Amino acid sequence: MTAEVRRAAEILRAGGLVAFPTETVYGLGADASNPKAVARLYAVKGRPSDHPVIVHFDSFERALAWAREVPDEARTLAKKFWPGPLTLILKRSDAAKDFVTGGQPSVGIRVPSHPVAQALLAAFGGGVAAPSANRFGHVSPTTAAHVRGDLGSDVDLVLDGGPTEVGIESTIVDLSGADAVLLRPGRISRAEIEKLVKLKEKTGSSPRHSGGLERHYSPRTPARMVPTHQLDKEIAKLGDKVAVLAFSRPDERVDFWLRMPREPQAYAQKLYAALRELDGAGCELILVEAPPEAPEWAAVRDRLMRACREG
Ligand code: TXA
Ligand code: MG
Repeated sequence: MTAEVRRAAEILRAGGLVAFPTETVYGLGADASNPKAVARLYAVKGRPSDHPVIVHFDSFERALAWAREVPDEARTLAKKFWPGPLTLILKRSDAAKDFVTGGQPSVGIRVPSHPVAQALLAAFGGGVAAPSANRFGHVSPTTAAHVRGDLGSDVDLVLDGGPTEVGIESTIVDLSGADAVLLRPGRISRAEIEKLVKLKEKTGSSPRHSGGLERHYSPRTPARMVPTHQLDKEIAKLGDKVAVLAFSRPDERVDFWLRMPREPQAYAQKLYAALRELDGAGCELILVEAPPEAPEWAAVRDRLMRACREG
C-alpha cells in the first residue's frame, strides 16, 4: 500500500473527504458511519439529504454486513459481478443509518474493482459512502482533473488513478422488495443480470434514485439528441452555434465536433469527458447523434437522454 492511500484512509477516519477512482467514475468518499462526515459530503455535493448514497466496501463479507434478509439472488449477483460495476439495493442492517440511506429502509452497497479503490477501502476497513465526485446534477467525473475542476478545495484529497475504464456509473439492481428491479443500466447489461435473476419492469413506485430525477448527468449547455438523418439539417440551421457529438466524420461548418466510437463500451468510456469538452466550447447547443436502439446501447442511451432533457 502506498503512503498516499494510507494518508487517504487516515483522512476518512478523521471525518474528511477523499475523492478516489473506481472502475466506473470517480467517487467522493466519506466514512459511512460518521454522520458529520456524511453531512459534509452532502453539503459539498449540493445533494438533497433525503437522497441515498452508495456505500462501498473492499469485500463481499463487509458489504453484506450492512444488509439483512439477503436474498439468494443478491448472493448470486455479488458472486458473479463483485468486485465490479454493480450496486445492489438491499434491506439495511443496523449498520446503515438514516443519514446514508436518505431515511429509506434499504441501502445501496457496492464492491468496486479498481485497484486504488480496493486499496483505500481495505486500508480504511469500513463502509465508504461515495456518490460520483461532481456537484449534484452535473456530469460524473472520469478523471482526477474533472474532480478538481468541480470540487476544488472542498475535497481534502484526490487520489489519481487515471481515466476510468467503464466511464458511466454502476448498474443498480434493487433486491429490497418482492421483485428484482433494474434501477439504472450500466456496463453490466440487463441481459447479463437476467441470465441469473429474473427482473421485473421498473414502476413509478420504485425507490428514489437520481436516475429517476428529470434532469441529471447534464452539461450546462443545452443538449439535443437527433437521429442521424436530421443531423445535417440541424447543422445547416444552426451552423457555428453548435457543438456536435457524432459517429460520423466532422463537418467543416462546425468548429467543435467530437467523433465517438461505434462500439458502446468504448463510447461510454469517452462520453462524460466528451460532454465536458463540448460544454466548454461556449456554444448555444450540443447536438448529439442518437445511438442505435439495440440493447447493448441501453446504458449510453439512458445517460444521453438525461443529458438532453431540459431542466
Ligand atoms: O458507479 C457508481 O455507482 C458511482 C461510483 C462512485 O461508485 N457512484 C454513483 O453514486 O453513481 P451516485 O450517488 O452518483 O448515484 C447513486 C445512485 C443514486 O441514484 C441513488 O439514489 C441510488 O444510487 N441509491 C443509493 N441507495 C439507494 C437506495 N437505498 N434505494 C434506491 N436507490 C439508491
Ligand atoms: Mg451521480
